[in-house]
Amino acid sequence: MLIAHISDLHVMPKGQLAYGRVDTAAMLRTTVAQLNRIVPRPDLVLVTGDLADHGEIDAYAHLREILAGLEIRYLVIGGNHDRAENLRAAFADHSYLPAHGDFIQYAIDEYPLRIVAADSVVRGRVRGSMCDQRLEWLDRTLGEKPSTPTLLMMHHAPFITGLAHSDDLCMERVEELEQVISRHPQIERILCGHVHRAVQVRFGGTFASSCPSTAHQSSVDLREHGQDMFTLEPPGFQLHRWTNRRLFSYTLNVGTFEGPFPFH
Ligand SMILES: [Fe+2]
Ligand SMILES: [Fe+2]
Repeated sequence: MLIAHISDLHVMPKGQLAYGRVDTAAMLRTTVAQLNRIVPRPDLVLVTGDLADHGEIDAYAHLREILAGLEIRYLVIGGNHDRAENLRAAFADHSYLPAHGDFIQYAIDEYPLRIVAADSVVRGRVRGSMCDQRLEWLDRTLGEKPSTPTLLMMHHAPFITGLAHSDDLCMERVEELEQVISRHPQIERILCGHVHRAVQVRFGGTFASSCPSTAHQSSVDLREHGQDMFTLEPPGFQLHRWTNRRLFSYTLNVGTFEGPFPFH
């Protein structure tokens, strides 16, 4: 099974740029075209939040128009930039999304890898967290299939990256989350967004992994008081290849580059 992971699309209403300079919609279109060209074709695309930069209805309509070009099934969760009610309305035809309730979280049991999507968003806040109710849901949901290899997807990364920007915005209650995760060794990866860069850390006996953004990337400033900045280096996405024994993860850049050239 081959899974593509994209994150932090930050789409704006038509004609608007994010942060006054990032054409997130055009960048997503390029990513969608690149995903459609992958051979063999991924079975599924996971989209880990910050779908719309300000969460307006117009932005979701714009997003749906672009994602309509994606020839692969995709699953979404929200991020801190999303507005849950507008996201739900825009994706009302995505029957796996709960139509009601405080949280947008679910499990998909149709593939060799089970997908569990957890909601790490605290409404009105940038930082993520999981309340007791969500931790209980996660523990219970993971406990339903203890021997099925599982990918857990959530918007916030449960680790301190050392990148100044994201660390101001990191997740709370990670110790409690880590205790839950460590009870479920079938989790192959925790796939996250929010960081706008690929970072991998051991967490709760598995790997937590953040994905690059399809738009702007957080700059790598590892000084203690590094600045909160982004770059327009090539965007990226990840591929996760499941062999029924191991999960291999690849980070790719979006764009057109020279090559491939033969080694010999
Ligand atoms: Fe983001
Ligand atoms: Fe975010």
